Amino acid sequence: MTTSTPLTQDELKALVGQAALQYVVPGEIVGVGTGSTVNKFIDALASMKGDIKGAVSSSVASTERLKALGIPVFDANEVESLSVYIDGADEIDGQGHMVKGGGAALTREKIVAALAGRFVCIADESKLVPALGKFPLPVEVIPMAAAHIARRFAALGGKATIRQKDGQPLVTDNGQHILDVTGLSITDPLAFESDVNQWPGVVTVGVFAHQKASVCLLGTAQGVKTLS
Ligand code: 5RP
Repeated sequence: MTTSTPLTQDELKALVGQAALQYVVPGEIVGVGTGSTVNKFIDALASMKGDIKGAVSSSVASTERLKALGIPVFDANEVESLSVYIDGADEIDGQGHMVKGGGAALTREKIVAALAGRFVCIADESKLVPALGKFPLPVEVIPMAAAHIARRFAALGGKATIRQKDGQPLVTDNGQHILDVTGLSITDPLAFESDVNQWPGVVTVGVFAHQKASVCLLGTAQGVKTLS
């Protein structure tokens, strides 16, 4: 009798990163997200770099990885639209609503997602949740508004903390700070995103409901499951 070892989370990420290649349109520019799952996708994308024009990237980190693999990177202002944007998520529900920003790239991710006709989310199965809200919600904020925004979240039952890196507030690619908010109940992701986006000082809230996933490739013990 043969027994198979369950795939590690890293292997599940590699599986969906590879599977995402089928959504890349030859001859076009592809939108590329940020994170450890997307890194697997970028590595896989290198195998077809001769078939695409290049990529629009959602972070300095992804740009560096793409360029190191010889994939041309275009500025978002150089493209009018993209067929596909491929990115990971910290949480995704059955409707394709996501929480993103664990890698602090949520603002550029939302911008590139807005350019794309299709958002393909790639994630291991631990990211699929019945309802959003367990993962601390990332919110990119203008630093001078952080305390005020934290008080507004407190009024909703949330606890916001400024994300740190090396003992200092983390500074995003856009020069701003990130609040991570726990204790929220996000029952209506669309309304929640619209509401928080309007608070003065909020740059981007990490709920992706208006720019939700069209397709999710989920890495599971049984292989890649496609949710759409
Ligand atoms: C970065 C993101 C990532 O997509 C999200 O954090 C998932 O990352 P990973 O694939 O490393 O689990 O939103 O801002």
